[in-house]
Amino acid sequence: MRKPFIAGNWKMNNTRAEAKALVEALKPLVAGIDNVEIAVAPAFTCLEAVSPLLAGSNIGLSAQNIAYAPSGAYTGEVSAAMLKDVGCVYAIIGHSERRQFFGETDASVAKRVRAALDNGIIPIVCIGETLQEREDGRTFDVVLTQLVEGLAAVESSEATLVVIAYEPVWAIGTGKTATPEQAQEVHAAIRARLAECFGGEIAEAIRIQYGGSVNASNAKTLLGQKDIDGALVGGASLKADAFVEIIRGAC
Ligand code: 13P
Repeated sequence: MRKPFIAGNWKMNNTRAEAKALVEALKPLVAGIDNVEIAVAPAFTCLEAVSPLLAGSNIGLSAQNIAYAPSGAYTGEVSAAMLKDVGCVYAIIGHSERRQFFGETDASVAKRVRAALDNGIIPIVCIGETLQEREDGRTFDVVLTQLVEGLAAVESSEATLVVIAYEPVWAIGTGKTATPEQAQEVHAAIRARLAECFGGEIAEAIRIQYGGSVNASNAKTLLGQKDIDGALVGGASLKADAFVEIIRGAC
């Protein structure tokens, strides 16, 4: 059985005070929920402020990225050891905004995934097609290539630690969600490819989140699909009550 996993990607939002207030609002709302794994991914500047507030709670801390190198002359990057030091359990890797605006490639994603696993951080690996790619009939080709290349350095023995987030780029921040059927179709293809890479039993244990305009109203139907094991939530994770509604949809 795969435990549903709902993570809030706060992106470039919230000062430290706002981040702390959001976590303080969220904690009592999710207290006692133990059948869903929950995480929030604040900006790097807020990790240290938020981390002690999450201690002893059922909300895990995630970074929004992770360096592939262990240390050194990599201006602007934050290493796995630094993230561990501040209490991160997860790191989002290869988000489409990183790919689109900051030149991330499948090769750099693979190296970041390796850095995460080498340091005991759970990678949340994002994959997804653009609208043009979908309209050109290339969805499966694009998504499955990103999957295989992004996981190129993952051994079968550690594959169940990895979380995949399928986020169609055209659904991110647009209010346009994939239908449950559209999402399920891609999730099933992802799981089938994972089975080819790592074997069926391992593929059955890997969580695949859906992301892209997930909100309180559409979460339950999306999460009810066979191969959708959680959600990576952007905008709706910035409001505690909306985020908790999504989490309840996974209970
Ligand atoms: P939205 O939920 O705002 O569409 O963002 C999704 C996302 O990119 C999460 O990583």
